[in-house]
Amino acid sequence: MLTFSKQRISEVFSVSEAVAHQQKQVTSTSGQQKYPIADCNKESLPTDQCLNLSSAHSVGPLALKTYLCPLEFSSYNLARSEPCRRWILGSLPIIPLTAAIIVVVFCYCFSPAISIFYLSGSLEISNLTYTNELGDPRSQQFISQAQAVQNYFSELYEPSILGKYYLKSVITAFSEGEEGLRAYYWTSGSEEYDLTVKSAISFDLYAKPGNNRTLTLTLPKRSYYQWRLRVPAGHIVHLVILTLHGAIPGNCAIHKLSAYDFLLPVQNKIITRWCGSPVTWNPPVIRLTSSGNVMLVTFSSNVPRVGSVFKAYFEAVRKRGCGGNLISWNGSLSSPYYPRYYPPKIDCTWTITTPAVGYIIALSVIVLEIQAGSQSSSNCDKDWLEIEGIRYCNRITEGGFSKIYGRSVKIKFKSDQSITYKGFYLEYKAFSYEDPCPNQFKCKDGSCISLKNHCDGWRDCLDGSDETKCNCYFTCPSGNCILHGSVCDGINDCGDASDELNCTRAMIFPSLHKGCSFTSYKCHNGKCVNKINPECDGKRDCMDGSDESGCGCGTSPAKKTKIVGGENAKKGKWPWQVSLQMGMYGHICGASIVSNRWLVSAGHCFQDSDSIRYSTSSAWTAYLGLRLMNRMNSWIVTRSINRIVTHPKYDEYTSDYDIALLELKTPVFFSDSIQPVCLPAITHVFSTTSNCYVTGWGVLGEDGELATVLQEASVKIIPLNICNKLYKNSVTTRMLCAGYLHGGVDACQGDSGGPLVCLGKRRKWFLAGIVSWGEGCARRNRPGVYTRVSRFSDWIKQQIN
Ligand code: ARG
Repeated sequence: MLTFSKQRISEVFSVSEAVAHQQKQVTSTSGQQKYPIADCNKESLPTDQCLNLSSAHSVGPLALKTYLCPLEFSSYNLARSEPCRRWILGSLPIIPLTAAIIVVVFCYCFSPAISIFYLSGSLEISNLTYTNELGDPRSQQFISQAQAVQNYFSELYEPSILGKYYLKSVITAFSEGEEGLRAYYWTSGSEEYDLTVKSAISFDLYAKPGNNRTLTLTLPKRSYYQWRLRVPAGHIVHLVILTLHGAIPGNCAIHKLSAYDFLLPVQNKIITRWCGSPVTWNPPVIRLTSSGNVMLVTFSSNVPRVGSVFKAYFEAVRKRGCGGNLISWNGSLSSPYYPRYYPPKIDCTWTITTPAVGYIIALSVIVLEIQAGSQSSSNCDKDWLEIEGIRYCNRITEGGFSKIYGRSVKIKFKSDQSITYKGFYLEYKAFSYEDPCPNQFKCKDGSCISLKNHCDGWRDCLDGSDETKCNCYFTCPSGNCILHGSVCDGINDCGDASDELNCTRAMIFPSLHKGCSFTSYKCHNGKCVNKINPECDGKRDCMDGSDESGCGCGTSPAKKTKIVGGENAKKGKWPWQVSLQMGMYGHICGASIVSNRWLVSAGHCFQDSDSIRYSTSSAWTAYLGLRLMNRMNSWIVTRSINRIVTHPKYDEYTSDYDIALLELKTPVFFSDSIQPVCLPAITHVFSTTSNCYVTGWGVLGEDGELATVLQEASVKIIPLNICNKLYKNSVTTRMLCAGYLHGGVDACQGDSGGPLVCLGKRRKWFLAGIVSWGEGCARRNRPGVYTRVSRFSDWIKQQIN
């Protein structure tokens, strides 16, 4: 038995193949009034208006939120349907379901070209609860519950004048409603729609808080797949799209993924549509959120069996409110769930007020990526950020904007029911002209930093004034003061490495270097040399001369002289740089030459995805002596790969041991443009003052394209303990961080596997790191993370000899 909630909130969507409607007047039975119908395809009508027929009301037999817009089935079955005909039926105070049906009938009865009608929507049944069985359309419970709701619909339709067009209603899914069971249905006058639904392959998934559920699709054979994602009431769905291989980025004609804020593919409920990104892109690619506790993900392709593959996962995130009154000296504010895409149907209002009179607010909008207005860029009528009455919706590409307001500022953020983006992020601070850094540390140069960064062992003021006049944590024999964060961080700050002695070195350099102390170099014959970086410094320190053997490396024949924030490299400046390419996919990773037969690269470059076998050595070609991508020259040498040796401990989840060796099919001859780089001994010290460069053809910005000219960027080594603070302890001692805390310069997608080299004695370049990972690229406080090569010198030597 079905009883409907008193607050029966129901949403109806429809699709029709009818054509050639003109503006009409239609009489609704509810009020004997005339209501205009408008054609949504008319440019002048904002699409949003054709969504809402009436607002939900608690009176009447069934209060309806009615939409008359197409249901989307992107597989070919409906692909041929007319361009969307959408109808607005005026704003009715109350539309009983029967009235809504009659309205629909009128549309089509008066239309010269009626064919079929479809309605789809959801309704909530208050005295029933959702169970796991109802999430499985094959279960007995589902079938009988669906039958009961379907019978209810037939009873409603059949006696109505829509009866003769009415074929049936189908319940496609249930979910946990706000106060009962929510049923999703479509109602149709045709079998054709049913065919499309039947040809779809559906997966029903439920995630409890704390559980990730994955969505995968390998070698799709059908043209249409759908995943109905559900989480408990009071939560929202957070979907993380990891990959969509085999799709053509930017071209949605062949493959597309769509995510809907509803359990049926209704056009107006699209959160986003996506057609893949370049192969070298690092996951996750997109993080979406729903407004309620369901989401539908569909994959459609016009060319079945192309070998595309899709991978994503979702989780339940507690639904958060937004807005409020903030009284603070400084802080930040962002769209809900930032940096995930914000959900549809958001409406937040914040007021920020400074804690004391006499202080005003300076506000900088740093990120703004939201749905722009429908007509011109100046009318922000879809989603918008409003600050003191001024609406913003155009994407900020560089730097953001800052403005000064009064003692308090009112901020609103609103999203409509479809299409969302990453959102906004802004920072604010209170100040007065007399006291420019309230509650903060004022650097000598006048800039402000947080009080907690004062004397934390790290320069936050550009002039370093936050670290002068601090108590010394450690004093080097030379009298130099070493701050807290720089002691025992694996980096020689004193010069004689005394800041790195008496540390529990075992943690950083486990038993690998038995025999000699941490700071001493171990010669071939096992003798220890107490000198920092004695390798290839032109002086024979080991009796057996092993510190000066194998030094034909690391020289950059170029006389003097993306990477994000880098510049074009001079010809021949980085002769160990290799481009690893894979047939039609082109450049994928970088690598470095370490001998005439071996390259070193990152382990993660050779992990198979479901559609591409990156671990197959024969699929790769190494380009040596290359500087300009896509341009062949006499000095460029290509080599096939004989064997790929990925470190046996490589861990794809933590990126630990991210190193691989590639054996060339045939050796190469070194030349001015092809040279090996020097491998550092395990004790080789790279310090914050080392002169280091990262090079590669990776993308020039997070959303950018691969570089055509080899890029180089100077980066600084960042102490491990600082990096671990920034990355929540995910940086292991097999990793090394480099970049700048202020961001702006970094390696990025496509640079992976490539070299981070630092200049040693006698102008020899040593391979300090291999481009491995980072959060985004060149972001503030998110430096690049590299594989610490010195940690692997023994392993490398062992493998290549
Ligand atoms: N994993 C990336 C690649 O495959 C390189 C990431 C480096 N990121 C960074 N922010 N440094 O190319």
